[in-house]
Amino acid sequence: MRVSIIGQGYVGLTIAVGAASAGHQVIGFDINASLVSNLNSGISHIEGISNDEINKFLGNGMFQATDDPAKLDTSDVIVIAVPTPLTEDRQPDLSFVHAAADLIQRCVKKPVLVVNESTSYPGTLRKEIAARISTVSHLYAASPERVDPGNSQWGTKSTPRLIGGLTPEAVAKAKEFYSTFCDSVIEVSSPEVAEAAKLFENTFRQVNIALVNEFVQIAQELGISGREVLDAAATKPYGFMEFNPGPGVGGHCIPVDPTYLAHVANQVGVPATFIKRANEVNLAMPAYVVKRVIAGVGGSVKGKSVVVVGVSYKANVADTRETPAASIIDLLRQAGATVNWHDPLVASWRGEESSALGASDVAVVVTKHDVVSVADIEKSSYVFDCTGSIAGADGI
Ligand SMILES: NC(=O)c1ccc[n+]([C@@H]2O[C@H](COP(=O)([O-])OP(=O)(O)OC[C@H]3O[C@@H](n4cnc5c(N)ncnc54)[C@H](O)[C@@H]3O)[C@@H](O)[C@H]2O)c1
Repeated sequence: MRVSIIGQGYVGLTIAVGAASAGHQVIGFDINASLVSNLNSGISHIEGISNDEINKFLGNGMFQATDDPAKLDTSDVIVIAVPTPLTEDRQPDLSFVHAAADLIQRCVKKPVLVVNESTSYPGTLRKEIAARISTVSHLYAASPERVDPGNSQWGTKSTPRLIGGLTPEAVAKAKEFYSTFCDSVIEVSSPEVAEAAKLFENTFRQVNIALVNEFVQIAQELGISGREVLDAAATKPYGFMEFNPGPGVGGHCIPVDPTYLAHVANQVGVPATFIKRANEVNLAMPAYVVKRVIAGVGGSVKGKSVVVVGVSYKANVADTRETPAASIIDLLRQAGATVNWHDPLVASWRGEESSALGASDVAVVVTKHDVVSVADIEKSSYVFDCTGSIAGADGI
């Protein structure tokens, strides 16, 4: 099939590679001209996708990146993989999804299968995409992406894929497409079910992370190790699933998706109280970390040199979206510390560069990438570890 993917970020490029490896002719469309130019030069911007892989598909003609919307008109399948962030007042921002739908309305003149992989609330495919496209009668399906960047065990091929369509024909075509590069394709009765499943999966994670984040604070006051308790609880072979505490949640999904669910819950008059409380707990974690650091160094960080280690939101990825490291750095600076950060994967962020790991007064480990050495972290006089990966260090 000829496949166009609108958006060549974490999701779009991953699907592009999956589809190209299954023998589809893929066009990766993005409005970011420099990203397009890099891709066409064989330069990947995603950790899990190598330059070699991009070069292979550029070389055999199975992949081409473009910012020319006219190219979309040569497709059999168009996949939408654009951002679905929150607005400044933390409401769903569907402007990118609307822009993608409007692009299809303007540029695609013959019927295709349109699949939305962007995460959004139930009703998005039907009301925010299909309803905006009137020129041609397309087939529509929702297949929310579940990719977990950096996860070597579960990838596009092995992670079961949900499909819900507006018509049986759309479902059949979407199943035919995804079956070529996904081991398991699961049909659900409507796009709304698929959309809601994705939101619920990430809400489940958000709520459970908040629960352990609250629990480790209780354990701290009880004088026991929260992590040891969680490990002990995880020995129960049924009815328990281990989640790890941390300095807050980051990335494009966990801090954002539950708020999409809360948005529709409010619209139908159900107060999404778990989501609200989980947001509160997770958003308060940076302040808790800084409070503990200050206590750990005797009551003040004023004038102390602090290095924040790992500013991306999780280990071994370079993604800094919604990272709790930002608040931790800001709060430490407000408390009078001189703060640098070290992250070899990120290198440059918020107009600052990654600094070398030397002997600081304090190291606060927010994210522990494999390439960062514990010995280098331990050059600092006091280490506060948010990751549970440095034996004997103070932390959560
Ligand atoms: N990153 C993840 O781990 C992940 C996992 C599952 C689902 N998702 C969801 O997938 C969607 C995409 O996320 P992502 O992480 O790939 O985002 P991203 O920011 O990495 O990439 C989005 C890309 O879309 C491009 N873009 C924006 N508007 C466009 C337009 N009108 N036309 C063409 N390109 C456009 C941007 O330039 C960018 O390159 C979101 O809804 C997200 O919630 C993300």
